[in-house]
Parts: sequence; structure tokens; C-alpha cells
Amino acid sequence: MTKQLYIETVGCQMNLLDSELVVASLRKKEYALVDKPSRADVILFNTCSVREHAEEKIYSALGRLKHIKRQHPEKIIGVIGCMAQNHQSQVFQRAPYVDLVVGPGQLHQIPDLIEQIAESGLPQMEVSLDRKGGSRETVEQSFESYDPLRMPEMRPSRYQAFVRIQIGCDKFCTYCIVPKVRGPEQGRHPRKIFAEAQQLADEGCKEIILLGQTVNSYQYKESGKTTRLSDLLYQLSAIEGIERLKFVTNYPRDMTRDLLQAVSCLPKCAHYLHVPAQSGSNRMLERMKRGYTVEHYREMLGQIREEIHSVAVTSDFIVGFCGETEEDFDLTCALVQESQFKNSFIFKYSERPGTKGADNYPDDIPDQVKKDRNNKLLAIQNAISEETNQQKIGCEYEVLVEGPSKSARKQEQNGDRLQLTGRTMTDDIVVFDGNLRQMGQLLPITIYDASAFTLFGEVRTQHVGPEVYSLSPESAT
Ligand code: 5AD
Ligand code: SF4
Repeated sequence: MTKQLYIETVGCQMNLLDSELVVASLRKKEYALVDKPSRADVILFNTCSVREHAEEKIYSALGRLKHIKRQHPEKIIGVIGCMAQNHQSQVFQRAPYVDLVVGPGQLHQIPDLIEQIAESGLPQMEVSLDRKGGSRETVEQSFESYDPLRMPEMRPSRYQAFVRIQIGCDKFCTYCIVPKVRGPEQGRHPRKIFAEAQQLADEGCKEIILLGQTVNSYQYKESGKTTRLSDLLYQLSAIEGIERLKFVTNYPRDMTRDLLQAVSCLPKCAHYLHVPAQSGSNRMLERMKRGYTVEHYREMLGQIREEIHSVAVTSDFIVGFCGETEEDFDLTCALVQESQFKNSFIFKYSERPGTKGADNYPDDIPDQVKKDRNNKLLAIQNAISEETNQQKIGCEYEVLVEGPSKSARKQEQNGDRLQLTGRTMTDDIVVFDGNLRQMGQLLPITIYDASAFTLFGEVRTQHVGPEVYSLSPESAT
């Protein structure tokens, strides 16, 4: 008999991919997705620990389920992913009606754990020992433990898919919880990556987004040979049906020439790089243990722009990190101003117990100051984003059509015509009027309007001479 599954995902693209794979593994056990926890037999939260706020929101969501669980004790509630690893049995203490706690390295065990809970009525927890590396075979298995059977309906669109090439992180930036909860950096075997990409292409997928916490640090060593991200890009480019390749997130110090050259010369590689700077102040970068100075970052940005024609670069920044002065913040504003990023994701520093930052420095910037700095930096970035987008008016771009736009999804469909959305080679979102059968196609679109985050365009229709369409008197009969 079909059982019902509800899953809520917060956090990064890695989590979206994890959820897709968890749902696929449960679908094999006859679970169907539902969109309300009240209708589900199993309720899962795939969680994030990067900021405290994300964790607190999960506890609030769990709080709202308390009465459902009281009325239906047979329902199974699970907390999975980074917060499960970070808080472990604390989750049971704060929400005693939770049945399941599973860390990001154990997600493949979820179907069995759910069965055990159903049989025994006892809660289950599976998490990693702290930064347990495991043998190479164990790590290989953790990549391959999911059936590559995927869930196209859970992806950004049917034509795009995430492919994990790396797990964990070894950089230990002092503010960041990721190395603790996702474990040591490990690269996936290139052959396995290729096979998954090939399978996705066979299923009609057009764009592949390679995922890793520091994706450009990817390396796989075997028999004296090292495969780098650039090598992977050459290999994946050869797959017929794949039209675009992207990769996120990059670490500034590992932005090597070979990678930039691969992006530049491979026509399928998007001219889009997300390379978080985090701060424009050397004093802060040093405290964050980012391993580079603003001068290095600037030089790297120069190399990116020199190598890759019309490239779009995006960045992340943390404001209000421990001891950040007005002068430090002004240096960040200056970096954002001069760098002309396509976009920046700006975060207020959130102290994470268990990190070097929390151990060594007091979280001494008042929340109001963090908020003000966040707003100020956002205003600088938004003005840049809007200005760069305005310059695109009148230009034509090749757009990979993803599907109905957000507003079209809310509206009643009227025939096949509707508002569609897609992305350019530089990851700009373009909204235009089109037809459902254009989904998954690469279309030439001319931009007629722009806001800071969206381009508005129309499909260039081929100019066809009148002789093609005019019916001759004979054929008109
Ligand atoms: N507080 C605020 N932002 C953080 N990030 C990582 N850790 C923290 C933290 N403790 C941000 C960084 C990173 C992005 C994914 O989240 O900018 O690039
Ligand atoms: Fe966190 Fe730094 Fe690793 Fe990124 S590189 S995941 S910010 S520790």
C-alpha cells in the first residue's frame, strides 16, 4: 500500500540534492510525496546548520507538529542532514516526539531506519563520529549508496540536475560549521561522475551543476594520475545531450589557470563563477582563516576576467564577524563596489558553537549594527546588479528554457502559451512569453527590460521571407 511522505528542505544545493536522493530511495519503498505534513505518514526535515536562525526555524516547525504527533503517534517525524549531525541527541531533548535523527553521511540508511521505527516504536539515530574519514571504500559507498534513480520532479527543473563530485570540507574557516558536520573533503571517482552525467543526459537532462563545498579544489588520485575539475569538465563536455555545465562553490585560492582555461574554451561551460570573498578587510580575512588577502582575491578576479569572455562572478559576504570595525566594513563595501559582482549573498555573522571563531573571539557586534551593515552592503550590490542588467537591454542571449515562471505556476493555464523562465550562459534569469513545448530548448531571446534580478525578453523569431508563407493561387484551393 502506498505511504505518504512529506519533506521540507532548507539550506544549500547540496541539501536539495540529498532530499532528491532520499525521496528516490523511499519511492522504491512505495512512498508518494504529499505537500502537507498533516497528510503524511513520514515527515522529514532536511536541515542546515550554517546559521543559528536556520536551526531555530526547524525547532519551531517541529513545535507545530507536536499536536499532530499526539493525535497520530504512528506518524514518523525525522530530522536529517546537517542539524541532525550538529545536535545529535539534543534534537530528542528539545523535541521528544521526534523519531529519527540522521546525519548527512547516513542518509542512505533512512528507509531501513523508518522500518525499524515502525516495527519497534523506538526512536533511531545514525550520525558520523566526529570527522570520521572512513576507508576509501566507505567513502566511495557513501557517494554511491543511493540508487542513481532520481526524482526529476524535485529538481530545479527536469532539464537540470545536480551531480555531487565532492563531499566535506578541509578549509576550516573559523566561522563555519560545515567541516564539522559534513566531514573531511573527499573527491568522487571520475568514472562514477561521468556515468551519472551520462545517465542524466539519456533521461533528457540538458544542464549539469557539479556540487562541492570547495568544488574547484576537487582532485581524485589514482595510479599516479590526478584528475582535476578542469579534466572533469573536458570529459563531461563530450557527453551528447548535455548542453551546459556549471559548478559551485569555488574557493578563491584554488581558482587555477587550467580551470579558467577549461571554462573559457569549452563551449558548454557556463561563464558564471561563484567565488565567495567573505570580506574586503585583510584583518577579517585573517581572523576568518580564509587563506588569502584582498590583494590575492583582486588578482584572482583579474585573471578570471582576463581568461573568460563576458564572465559573471558572484560572491558571498559575512558582515559583523567578531571585531569587525567600521573601517573593516568600509573595506568590504569598497571591494563590492570595485568588483562589480553580478550578485552577492550577504549574511550577518551567526556564531556557531564548535567552531574556532566561537572558541577564540567574542561575537561582539550588536545585531542592529550587523543588520545596518547588511542593508548597506545589499544596497551597494543591488545598485550594481540593476545597472549591469540594464546594460543588457537590447542584447540577445541564448536561454535554456526551464519551465513556467513563478507567476505562471500560480495562474490557471490558458492553452499552451504562458510565461516561461530560463537562464543565460551567465546564469541570468530571463522571463518571456512562450509555449510549453519550448521547455528544455535553447532559444535566442532579446532583452527588452531588466530589474536587479530578472531580465525580461522575447523570443527572436526567425525572419522568414514572405515567399515561404504566401500561398500560390494553385495551392490555395
Ligand atoms: N554566519 C554567517 N554566515 C555564514 N556563512 C558560513 N558560515 C556562516 C556563519 N557562521 C556564509 C558564508 C558562506 C555561505 C554559504 O554562508 O558566506 O559562503
Ligand atoms: Fe565553510 Fe570555508 Fe569550507 Fe566554505 S570553505 S564550507 S566557508 S569551511
